[in-house]
Amino acid sequence: MTDSSRSFGDQFGYFGTSLLRLFDAETAHRLTILAVRTGLALFPAPTPPERLAVRAFGLRFPSPIGLSAGFDKNAEVPQQMLRLGFGFVEVGTITPKPQTGNPRPRIFRLPQDGAVINRLGFNNQGLEAARARLTARTFRGIVAVNVGANKDAADPVADYATCIGALAPLADMLVLNISSPNTPGLRDLQMGTRLDALLAAATAARKATRTNPPILVKIAPDLTEGDITTIVDAAISGGADGLVVGNTTVALRDTLRSEHRGEKGGLSGRPLLARSTEVLGQAYRAAGGRLTLVGVGGIASGADAYAKIRAGATLVELYTALVYEGPGLVGRIQSELAELLARDGHASVTDAVGAAWR
Ligand SMILES: Cc1cc2nc3c(=O)[nH]c(=O)nc-3n(C[C@H](O)[C@H](O)[C@H](O)COP(=O)(O)O)c2cc1C
Repeated sequence: MTDSSRSFGDQFGYFGTSLLRLFDAETAHRLTILAVRTGLALFPAPTPPERLAVRAFGLRFPSPIGLSAGFDKNAEVPQQMLRLGFGFVEVGTITPKPQTGNPRPRIFRLPQDGAVINRLGFNNQGLEAARARLTARTFRGIVAVNVGANKDAADPVADYATCIGALAPLADMLVLNISSPNTPGLRDLQMGTRLDALLAAATAARKATRTNPPILVKIAPDLTEGDITTIVDAAISGGADGLVVGNTTVALRDTLRSEHRGEKGGLSGRPLLARSTEVLGQAYRAAGGRLTLVGVGGIASGADAYAKIRAGATLVELYTALVYEGPGLVGRIQSELAELLARDGHASVTDAVGAAWR
């Protein structure tokens, strides 16, 4: 897009985004949250085209484009992010106790690759801070709450149950994050019997709250097709409602060109698009309609979102592209997606889900 074809909001967002690059990635992110919280960085978002409305988990999403976890770890700005035009916002990852995460620097921009590497390690203010903010919520709009385990948890499964016990009544959706590469051992929860035990504890904790938000499991893109089949079976038999596919990758380093390509942590953004969409398609075929899938990884355009929907996603989310493109991105993706659906004769998003396999 040329500068002259950008709207005022876009230009301002683009200017702000460029300005923020003067800071290290983590400081820039903190400034963004502050600016959004105080209303400095808000633009009226265009209403999503009617064709983009989606029904899933008994909820009506005005658009299938959501904000992925990690942007608003402490549930500080869900309302403001919904106003940017997102159809839903996922806050977290929230752990029972506050924790500081890994030493800085721990977020790296890879501009030539349209990517980010992070090794934050679940820095967050903990359950009580998030609970207080979500309790005070007065706005409408769908908020998913992503939960995890503290780094020093003696029993990680119990940490998920603790979070669900406190947050299920405040969440429209719950996401169990068992795929961050930055908490040692966390990804092992994806395997067979560990996932069975996690889902048993999670569904029991939810039941005790007498509320019933859907439970989704967020998985890594670094799994074999065999792993995915096992996870899908365990998710279905354990009572999960869906999967978020997926988190950052510890692989795919060979193609990177930017200075920070060798940093340890999880890679997100453009290089993740193809792989995460492939894993999503495998999960879709394995689930055979028994789970609702959320596609995440490398989305930066309407065509990217459409590819995820065609591969099997009912909803999609993004984070990294927002760092590079600024707030005008959401409206742009929505109009591009609506055009692609119309071009291919799909009356709705739901109509296009899994179309790649038909
Ligand atoms: C800086 C940063 C922090 C993140 N923190 C979390 C997190 O706390 N919990 C989580 O489930 N995913 C987290 N993610 C992963 C994103 O939610 C998403 O799954 C991943 O970045 C792929 O999407 P993207 O390519 O659109 O960024 C984080 C990603 C980034 C870049």
